[in-house]
Amino acid sequence: MSNAITSVLQETRKFPPPAEFTAAAHISSEEQYNAMWNKAKDDPEGFWSEISKNLDWFQPFTKVLEGDMPETKWFVGGKLNVSYNCLDRHLTTWRKNKAAIIWEGEPGDSRILTYQELHREVCKFANVLKKLGVVAGDRVTLYMPMIPELAIAMLACSRIGATHSIIFGGFSSDAVADRNNDAQCKLMITADGGWRRGKEVPLKPAVDEAIKKSPTVEKVVVVKRTGSDVTMVPDRDYWWHDLMEGVSADCPAAELDSEHPLFILYTSGSTGKPKGVLHTTAGYLLGATMTSRWVFDLKDEDTYWCTADIGWVTGHSYVVYGPLANGATSVMFEGAPNWPHEGRFWELIEKYRVSIFYTAPTAIRAFIKWGDEWPNKYDLSSLRLLGSVGEPINPEAWMWYHRVIGGERCPIVDTWWQTETGSIMISPLPGITATKPGSCTRPLPGIVPAIVSEKGEPLEANQGGLLVMTKPWPSMLRTLYGDHQRFQDVYFGKLPGLYFAGDGARCDEDGYYWVMGRVDDVLNVAGHRLSTMEVESALVSHPLVAESAVVGFPHEIKGEGLCCFVTLKTGAGDETLKKDLTSHVRKQIGAVATPDQIRFTNSLPKTRSGKIMRRLLRDIAAGRESGGDTTTLEDYTILAKLRDEE
Ligand code: WTA
Repeated sequence: MSNAITSVLQETRKFPPPAEFTAAAHISSEEQYNAMWNKAKDDPEGFWSEISKNLDWFQPFTKVLEGDMPETKWFVGGKLNVSYNCLDRHLTTWRKNKAAIIWEGEPGDSRILTYQELHREVCKFANVLKKLGVVAGDRVTLYMPMIPELAIAMLACSRIGATHSIIFGGFSSDAVADRNNDAQCKLMITADGGWRRGKEVPLKPAVDEAIKKSPTVEKVVVVKRTGSDVTMVPDRDYWWHDLMEGVSADCPAAELDSEHPLFILYTSGSTGKPKGVLHTTAGYLLGATMTSRWVFDLKDEDTYWCTADIGWVTGHSYVVYGPLANGATSVMFEGAPNWPHEGRFWELIEKYRVSIFYTAPTAIRAFIKWGDEWPNKYDLSSLRLLGSVGEPINPEAWMWYHRVIGGERCPIVDTWWQTETGSIMISPLPGITATKPGSCTRPLPGIVPAIVSEKGEPLEANQGGLLVMTKPWPSMLRTLYGDHQRFQDVYFGKLPGLYFAGDGARCDEDGYYWVMGRVDDVLNVAGHRLSTMEVESALVSHPLVAESAVVGFPHEIKGEGLCCFVTLKTGAGDETLKKDLTSHVRKQIGAVATPDQIRFTNSLPKTRSGKIMRRLLRDIAAGRESGGDTTTLEDYTILAKLRDEE
């Protein structure tokens, strides 16, 4: 038992896909899935070679895969262009005048760009980049709100072979400077500001600060979004609209090597400075394209909405590159789900008749807290498929999503993947996979995960362990920018020859994966290793609980005790409710998971992408001062409040 993670979450409900969904799905039978998966396992090069025909190539590759993990090269010798695949190839089809991006601004303004219009904007801006001296291989930082110019800038970079590094608009100027310097960025693209819950988030002032500490940045392009006053430094800062005036819309896509660096995306590790995850052209695009098609079952008639900000990998792969490469219609929204009211998302689904909706469990738990009356006010009958990403989804949140948003008719795809994997790895295929609430189910074709012990030995069904990938896949990261040694150490150092994702999981008797969270979120309580997520799910299944975060703290007898931070749907907690919750968790999981402390709080400290910062909660639970990096914290005041609530 000592090395295995005790998995205690029991979930027996199963939801097969509706027959009509299956009938029309891209992957529509178990035989088809098995044939693909087995072909990929037995003849990976043959499989990926076949699949790669879904991209348009300027020059065919000569070798599918060179090397083995961690040093892999895919589609060697091939030449292609990401923006060509996302735009140009649709212009010779009926999709020319199809909506590529349906954009809705927070104040309610909107803009629809057809493939042809988007192509024109991208070509023009690519010519602007060239005029500003950007050449293939240069790094360009994008620090922008969720406006169409962000997608245009990404595609323009990829058109000329510049490597973009997108920094989420909520990061501080220090974080921007660090990332600029790490990537040695030459040019920045930003806006005066963006809108967030009715207020302006100023971006240009943060850029001005960051640039003082970013010696490599030569020029800044500024989109006018809010119209507020900003300082423009002559010969350094240029308005987007000025630069675009009179520029030619003719810009042939550069013929780039398969392994040409497409983008860097910084992601936080458990310690140390952010990691610059580097993705390259062909493998990444193939992963984003095929998973969009398989997992979201994208069809030409769909209106697809992924709510992620493009500043995170989910936005890269599933707002922009994946959907556009498929010629889909992708909705892009600048605002927040609760502004000006808690029904904003549902209002948009009704307005645009969205058919596929992809969001995160943290949002789903907020929706639950705000109450069913909000979604119930709107017509959600256009939805046919729902998705979840970012953290394990608690079974009760899953059930709510299924019932209230999906009207019990939409399959849910719980998609497991990471910034590093580039595209979805483990997920239901909505036409064939019977889902179990809380499980991301089975690996996609070509993906070969395993659950192993700390020593790398394979574990049996239902034994909790480390989730690893045993075979390389095209969209995997190639390095951490400027620190190849760290790349080798972090992902391949612990278990040589295997990619270690940092997550704990188990695989059940049906071959379904149950991700239990990061292994640093695993507790050792009286010799039992428990996933914090499972205790959280038990708490959230109590009718009064909205959200919870469970962390360990040093405990004299048990080694580690369980400290549970709990937010309630309404009202304040008291001693009686603490007892009730304790017995609820004991009943759900067993005495091993008895909470040692329950603390009620109005909110939990989160990163801007919605992940609970357990490290900070661990410090509070243990009564320590919090050290380390808190630059990604959504609300700095929460920490002080949590301490006060002790
Ligand atoms: C977690 C987001 C359970 C996991 C795409 C992973 C998930 C980390 C799921 C990556 C899921 C993401 N079920 N856990 N469906 N999706 N995770 O890099 O811990 O922001 O390692 O990528 O999120 O987060 P990242």
